[in-house]
Amino acid sequence: MSFTTHILRRGLSTGVLRMAAVNHVTVIGGGSMGNGIAQVTAQAGCQVTMVDQTDEILQKSVNTISKSLQRVVKKKFADDPSKGEEFIKGIMGNISTSTDAPGAVANTDLVIEAIIENMDIKKKLFTELDKVAKESTIFASNTSSLSITEMASVTQRQDRFGGLHFFNPVPMMKLVEVVRIPQTSDATYDTLVEYCKKIGKTTVSCKDTPGFIVNRLLVPYMMEAVRLVERGDATPRDVDTAMKLGAGYPMGPFELLDYTGVDISKFVIDGWHEKYPDNPLFNPSPLINKLVSEGKLGRKTGEGFYKY
Ligand code: 3HC
Repeated sequence: MSFTTHILRRGLSTGVLRMAAVNHVTVIGGGSMGNGIAQVTAQAGCQVTMVDQTDEILQKSVNTISKSLQRVVKKKFADDPSKGEEFIKGIMGNISTSTDAPGAVANTDLVIEAIIENMDIKKKLFTELDKVAKESTIFASNTSSLSITEMASVTQRQDRFGGLHFFNPVPMMKLVEVVRIPQTSDATYDTLVEYCKKIGKTTVSCKDTPGFIVNRLLVPYMMEAVRLVERGDATPRDVDTAMKLGAGYPMGPFELLDYTGVDISKFVIDGWHEKYPDNPLFNPSPLINKLVSEGKLGRKTGEGFYKY
């Protein structure tokens, strides 16, 4: 047996060559998903670089992380506020920011993209990053509804590409969907799962299909709730109360639509309708279209189905 074969066999049987350690993560996009991902990664002791277009956006993201950590500390160090401050300082020390995406990925183990849900912009970004990231760097997208396979197709690292779909609010939601495209290698998949474990998340594995598992069920459910209201069968408030008290959901569908952003759901449903026009579950909603055209996008704009 040659030395290489021996090492390969040993590696495969012990897992040594199957997984790479993730010590540095670059999160592209400092919105609510991006800053949540950066927070939980930094909390797990990894170094994180958060990238966005301007320093103002990045400062806002850092402030959001700091506020979220205050909520954690309030419970964890209720009796010892100075220890809490130290805890926050330590975590914030693991986070750096940059407006230069190619510069930020030069020496990273994992890139997690959490930018605007626009395929062309994502492809442009991955094309650019693929040229400068080291060979072993794994690329992942946090897209909620776009094709990972299509994004990966513009890179020379399709075997080191996958989806990591987090849920809002990231620090609280325990799940990450790990999405495999046909080209994703076992080593890449194992590394992604191990990273999720390290940051305290539970993973499920799924193929690259529209909405993966959660959104494929959740989005049609929310759309059915909207159609129920459009028909005048019940009010948003009554539907929310019904689903919270009758089905045990932490939020009703309208509270959730407002929480995640009415525009986000519109984007998802419009995209799926365009791709699968014969599926009635994916039909667009006049009420959602009206709210979005009026700028009533939910909590972030102060009004959606409810006023805040
Ligand atoms: N950071 C840190 N802690 C947070 C937090 C954050 N961002 N948000 C909430 N918390 C903590 C609070 O400190 C509080 O802790 P305590 O009870 O120990 O004091 C606890 O969470 C509960 O918070 P609240 O009292 O403010 O409110 P709730 O009890 O309603 O919980 C919730 C908030 C966790 C958001 C809960 O309502 C929930 O689970 N809602 C459903 C969310 C959901 O379905 N998310 C998935 C959306 S789909 C998605 O993300 C897909 C994507 O593709 C769009």
